[in-house]
Amino acid sequence: MNRPAVEAVNISKSFENLQVVKPLDLSIGSGEFFSLLGPSGCGKTTLLRMIAGFETPTTGCVLVSGQDMTKVPPHKRPVNMVFQSYALFPHLTIAENVAFGLKAAGEAAGNIAGKVKEALQLVHLGDYGERYPSQLSGGQQQRVALARAVVKRPQVLLLDEPLSALDLKIRHQMQEELSRLQRELGITFIMVTHDQGEALALSTRVAVFYQGNLEQVGTPEEIYEQPKTAFVASFIGQTNLLDGQVVDRQASLIRVKIADNVFLWVKDLLEGGPSKIGDPVYVVLRTQVPKVVPSAKAPAADANTNCLTATIDQKSYQGHVTDYWLKLDCGITLRTSVNTSAESNFQLDDKVAVVIEADSAYVLADGAAHPRPKELVVV
Ligand SMILES: Nc1ncnc2c1ncn2[C@@H]1O[C@H](COP(=O)(O)OP(=O)(O)OP(=O)(O)O)[C@@H](O)[C@H]1O
Ligand SMILES: [Mg+2]
Repeated sequence: MNRPAVEAVNISKSFENLQVVKPLDLSIGSGEFFSLLGPSGCGKTTLLRMIAGFETPTTGCVLVSGQDMTKVPPHKRPVNMVFQSYALFPHLTIAENVAFGLKAAGEAAGNIAGKVKEALQLVHLGDYGERYPSQLSGGQQQRVALARAVVKRPQVLLLDEPLSALDLKIRHQMQEELSRLQRELGITFIMVTHDQGEALALSTRVAVFYQGNLEQVGTPEEIYEQPKTAFVASFIGQTNLLDGQVVDRQASLIRVKIADNVFLWVKDLLEGGPSKIGDPVYVVLRTQVPKVVPSAKAPAADANTNCLTATIDQKSYQGHVTDYWLKLDCGITLRTSVNTSAESNFQLDDKVAVVIEADSAYVLADGAAHPRPKELVVV
């Protein structure tokens, strides 16, 4: 059986007394496009640098294809890193920039021109070899940085925010390029990003970090549809996160008090459950979940259908969807995204009914392991 391309075993990093990567285990399969996702300062680059060998782990170790890398210096590891800044040599041509690493690694002179040409063709810059970096656009320079990284055919390519310097349109083009390049080369990509859309669109799996902690690893669908911590629920997509307390149970549904005399029937904990009566929990409501209907059309509430009353507090037209901020009578504000249409065109101060299907909402455990992320106020 093939060993995973990269394994991190009980790896952690402290600078002085500050633990910036908390002990974690990761296993990344051969040929995966794996993303490390999280907000600024959560330890993504530090983890990538430990895999590359530029940073020594405080605990644990890195294995590449089953080989312990602890004593292997960065340039001897079968990995290559693309840094956030392109770091091209301005006085060398594009071809010389790409050849640089091959020469440094002692590649036979006769092989170099062919390998450089092939790498430049891979990134669609076959005709640019004689130019200098200053004669290329930002997106083209980024492609040169990629060519330079893949020319040595590493087993693993580490990419630190490779597209963050590019404007939105070029960025989307380059996302497609990266995806194509990874498929054509068949090598393992590990990409750092703080852009959740980029991570979901490109990756086979995503690891979400928060304050040095590995919160969740999963496919894009798992991360989006079944977030396991309050942070992941808030960071990925748009989510309403409500504080509540379990007050009743009926089959697989629980009744949660979210304010005085205001209750919601929702699904129980996805894992670690069942929750107990009295437990503090977070209710997770994706912004697609609350449906808005005119008050006169409010359905009868039962255990499967929650129905609350609200006032339209704010509205934001986004094209095919319109976002509404719904002020519930109890004072809580919910955000919802509705497909734009004549029937669901509500105005500020309209009194409406908010319908929440019980099986489209669920709870997460509240507590020390799942603190409410302070900087992420969604509504
Ligand atoms: N050499 C260092 N010495 C001391 N502290 C460091 C060092 N390198 C990083 N840190 C700290 O470690 C934490 C994590 O840094 P890191 O660069 O890994 O974050 P990041 O997730 O990549 O953030 P960003 O998205 O902003 O690039 C930060 O608080 C940073 O200040
Ligand atoms: Mg970083």
